[in-house]
Amino acid sequence: MRMALRFIVPLLLVLAGIAWATTPILSDLIQRWFRADVELRAQLVFDSINDTVAREVKESDGPRIDLLFQRITRDERLLALGLCAPNGRLTHRSPSWPKTLGCPPRALRVPAFTVAARGDGTVLTAAFPLGEDGNDLGDLVIVHDLSFSERRGATLERYLTVFLALLGVLIAGVTVAVALVMRRNWVQAVRKGLAPVVAGDAPERTPEPAIAGLVAEMREMLRDLDVPRGISEAIRVDWNPDTLQNLLKSELPGAEVIVVSNREPYIHNREGDTIHVQRPASGLVTALEPITRACGGTWIAHGSGSADAETVDRQDHIQVPPEAPAYTLRRVWLSDEEQEGYYYGLANEGLWPLCHIVFVRPTFRASDWEQYVAVNRKFAEAVVAEAKSPNPLVLVQDYHFALLPQMVRERLPGATIITFWHIPWPNPEVFGICPWREEILQGLLGSTILGFHTQFHCLNFLDSVDRFLECRIDREQSTARTGGRTTLVRPYPISIEWPPSALVGQPSVPECRAKVRRDYELDPNVLLAVGVERFDYTKGIADRFRAVENLLEHHPEWIGRFTLLQIAAPTRSSLPAYRQTQAEAEAVATGVNQRFGRPGWWPIALVARHHEPEQVFTLFRAADLCLVSSLHDGMNLVAKEFVAARDDDDGVLVLSSFAGVSRELLEALIVNPYDSSAMGEAMHRALLMPREQRRDRMHLMRALVAEHNIYFWAGRMLLEAARLRKRQRIQDQIVQVTAPFTWRRGGGSR
Ligand code: G6P
Repeated sequence: MRMALRFIVPLLLVLAGIAWATTPILSDLIQRWFRADVELRAQLVFDSINDTVAREVKESDGPRIDLLFQRITRDERLLALGLCAPNGRLTHRSPSWPKTLGCPPRALRVPAFTVAARGDGTVLTAAFPLGEDGNDLGDLVIVHDLSFSERRGATLERYLTVFLALLGVLIAGVTVAVALVMRRNWVQAVRKGLAPVVAGDAPERTPEPAIAGLVAEMREMLRDLDVPRGISEAIRVDWNPDTLQNLLKSELPGAEVIVVSNREPYIHNREGDTIHVQRPASGLVTALEPITRACGGTWIAHGSGSADAETVDRQDHIQVPPEAPAYTLRRVWLSDEEQEGYYYGLANEGLWPLCHIVFVRPTFRASDWEQYVAVNRKFAEAVVAEAKSPNPLVLVQDYHFALLPQMVRERLPGATIITFWHIPWPNPEVFGICPWREEILQGLLGSTILGFHTQFHCLNFLDSVDRFLECRIDREQSTARTGGRTTLVRPYPISIEWPPSALVGQPSVPECRAKVRRDYELDPNVLLAVGVERFDYTKGIADRFRAVENLLEHHPEWIGRFTLLQIAAPTRSSLPAYRQTQAEAEAVATGVNQRFGRPGWWPIALVARHHEPEQVFTLFRAADLCLVSSLHDGMNLVAKEFVAARDDDDGVLVLSSFAGVSRELLEALIVNPYDSSAMGEAMHRALLMPREQRRDRMHLMRALVAEHNIYFWAGRMLLEAARLRKRQRIQDQIVQVTAPFTWRRGGGSR
């Protein structure tokens, strides 16, 4: 419609201009024709009465002249007849002679024609010399009414205008119809030309000659963006910080990277007079920090440390890592009330249990939701404030910011927003419990790419969108389209940096074994299992203690020879469910220790405090087995870190089948954490596993983590983002090329 107007309106304007300019000329021409016609008529009248009138004048028969004039002027267009004597006096006239009309200028040998005004119209006076042989009898004056010619001229003008208008509409209609047909043919030709590339397997076809050049160029570009090629290249590449930096430079030149998460990568805490920097126990931070170090840019996060405010500059910026600054950390401040509602309330008492389904009831409060919306907006504002370009690459992290993608999209429509959901996504029945399910889904669909750890979670998400939103889902392409925008929903199993920086400077494995046994006052000869997590009810800590109990009960040979060292960093402790988790785990550990412990030995050592990554890696190197018994986990990076720490190719991983990582680390001993007896058996098997088998399993797992490291994880998403950006650019160009032929209803989007 827009194009129709764009074309038709100027056409009509041009035609109106033509009508406006030509009508007076034509009308003048027509009037001249009429006047010439009238002059001819006057001549004819004169020729037919000349002799008669001359005779009567010679005979001075006045009454007969008057009678003659009266008879002749019955013709309606012949207005009046008069006779002007040689002295210029009107001697005879028909009764219709206009009162205001005198004798016109004299006709000397040739007729004299004059146009004169009369009342509401004009008259033409034609004066003919009367008499012959030099005998001047005066002039016979024939007066014609010219107003009828004016009336006809006006009528003609009207007809002409209508005619031109109809002609204009006709031309516009025909032109638009031709344009439509041309556009259809053109678009078909382009589609036909591009079809083999888009469809992949379709046979090559020769494009229409008219668009062959354009099609060839577009094919070339689309081929470059072919997904399988991108992915296979990604697989071949040795992924490290340099590869990631090069990828950014070559595929996303000039892209500005902005990471958004709740948890900050470096927390400054004051203890007395000194400020300590802490690296939090967070899978998210473990994964994202090396990437941001490699890519540079800005990381926006909640400033939660007691000395955070005093370590930032006036823009709330601080350069990190402290020892070798590589990117900017922008801290956002939250009030206690915001923290309470957004973080503890909606995020951790609502969404966390909702998504994990470990039989802790989610709690939803309207006041928490209000804070969640407000804090998401606050962070979205921070993104907009930090963005130096209109199309930054925004990496949104986790369930704390479900609304932020849409909020940023509204303010920065050109942004490429990659959102990663670090925890599981439940099925639609469970997700439907959430009172703000539509808002959350809409918010996430502001993303360009939405990532989950597993295909299963992607499908759950698409099912939820299908159930609760008006949306077009393409399951083959794994996309959801709503509001004119498409979001790609893809699995990207998260990972860790390789080689891990926490491994640098680690003592040898025997030294670590000795050190840990010493530090934690363990018998130097015990076989050691380790567990490292936040004290979270999703981690199944009490369940693994029960598994130890089962192990010792069914295989008493391990009594006095085996210990589980459990490190648990207190987390979200103000929430009752977390306090209960800790209390329950401590009670179970105490029970098992009381039941099986002996002087100088106890089966479970529970250390409830935060450990820095290097300390954790020393623990992993000291262990014979690592227990990951999550009741439900998006990925679980502890398992991958354990594997990464074991450069001696030793150690056994006992791994919950409900952690996303169990889809990748297939050589682990996979267990059901709800079945503590089976888990106890798995531990027994792990403790007895021959060295060769341990080495083979660990070797394979290390190869996988080395290859599918965190740079691979980020690289795949960035490649996908680059591909989408390029596709968008080509589509924009196609729209520009086809725009003159296209009737568009809505705007495009990124
Ligand atoms: C999980 C979440 C992360 C979070 C981490 C630590 O891994 O997915 O987003 O950072 O737990 O939780 P916390 O609440 O201490 O940040």
